Amino acid sequence: MVEINGSRLDARLDQFAAIGATPKGGVNRQALTEGDRQARRLLTKLALARGFDVFQDQVANLFIRRRGRYDDLPPLMMGSHLDSQPTGGRFDGALGTLSAFEVLESLEDAGVETERPIVLVSWTNEEGCRFAPGCMGSMAFSNGTIPNEWYDKRATDGASFASELKSTIESLPEARVKALAFPISAYVEVHIEQGPSLEAEGIPVGVVTGIQGTRWLQIAVKGQTAHAGTTGLAYRRDPLWALTSALSQLYQNIMPPDPDARFTVGRISASPGSVNAIPDEVTCTVDIRHPKLERLDEIEKEVISAINCAADRQHCAVDISRTFDMPPCTFDQNLQEVIIAAAGQLDLEWKAMLSGAFHDALFVNRVAPASMIFVPCHKGLSHNEAEYVEPLNALAGCQLLAKAATMMATG
Ligand code: GLV
Ligand code: MN
Ligand code: MN
Ligand code: MN
Repeated sequence: MVEINGSRLDARLDQFAAIGATPKGGVNRQALTEGDRQARRLLTKLALARGFDVFQDQVANLFIRRRGRYDDLPPLMMGSHLDSQPTGGRFDGALGTLSAFEVLESLEDAGVETERPIVLVSWTNEEGCRFAPGCMGSMAFSNGTIPNEWYDKRATDGASFASELKSTIESLPEARVKALAFPISAYVEVHIEQGPSLEAEGIPVGVVTGIQGTRWLQIAVKGQTAHAGTTGLAYRRDPLWALTSALSQLYQNIMPPDPDARFTVGRISASPGSVNAIPDEVTCTVDIRHPKLERLDEIEKEVISAINCAADRQHCAVDISRTFDMPPCTFDQNLQEVIIAAAGQLDLEWKAMLSGAFHDALFVNRVAPASMIFVPCHKGLSHNEAEYVEPLNALAGCQLLAKAATMMATG
């Protein structure tokens, strides 16, 4: 029997939350920043102290490997991510990564020899807020290649992806760089639910059946900058007027009639950004989510058409590009059954649920059976510094991971 050490898990969560800590109790540890590197260095140090093997790949995915009796078998993989939102919570990503580390340590403490090796992974840039798209690490791992255009990307803060990636890899000289992608037997990820249902229903764990689809658009509407006071209606080419009128129509038309749809504009800016000048260009992001692929297509078309129509009325030009496309996925049924059986052995109440957030498990699911374990988060709040997970719930998720992982790595 593998005993999970709940107070060690809590202490580790505190230790990592101190890296990039924000005044309101959250974290800002965006992908490939110094904070992200510091978290990787800490995890590496802890892993080496336990005698685990540590390595990384060319997209800076970080791996910690514990040997198995038949060490050539494809490993079981578990993990999550250590990067965060700019005003992120301390559990999104860290909980899954540190739960996986706690499982490795507990196996080690108990002297359990699994048949296959177990590899913890901390994926690069799950969030996608500094460099789009999200899930870069798991996408590259499952495609076996890093798209060339990623190297030309610029962060929202102006930094270059190529140089940030290089510096991140070089900041971990203890972790040798191996070729991208290797076979694995299965992948399990613990994560906070990031929504309210488990807490509201008083259920300690969710067994995740799949993930709804996500599509991101980058939109620019271009007009002409001109004097705010002297430019009459007939002379204005106002891109902000165009964009805001299209957006208010889209807010009305997308979510209220379709309870499964999500439509979010999280970033918007106007240039030159002067109080008394009509902007010449406005840009915004659009995040669309839906469990059905055909609805994602329809909503995307509706967004493009509304922006184009409103821009025409203002004699403005439009430039729209898709920056992320993640079709919905269904997780492996057998793996879900292993997790359910493990929950039964632990006497843990569980429920099956679809993930509203995207996760690296979606990409891994393309190359190996993947699934996830959700734990309740307080008031469903996530991508928020106030994000909170009760220690008892974190412990239950980790115990379930340990049980399922032991079954999979031994069976
Ligand atoms: C992941 O962070 C998401 O936005 O779903
Ligand atoms: Mn996450
Ligand atoms: Mn997140
Ligand atoms: Mn996420």
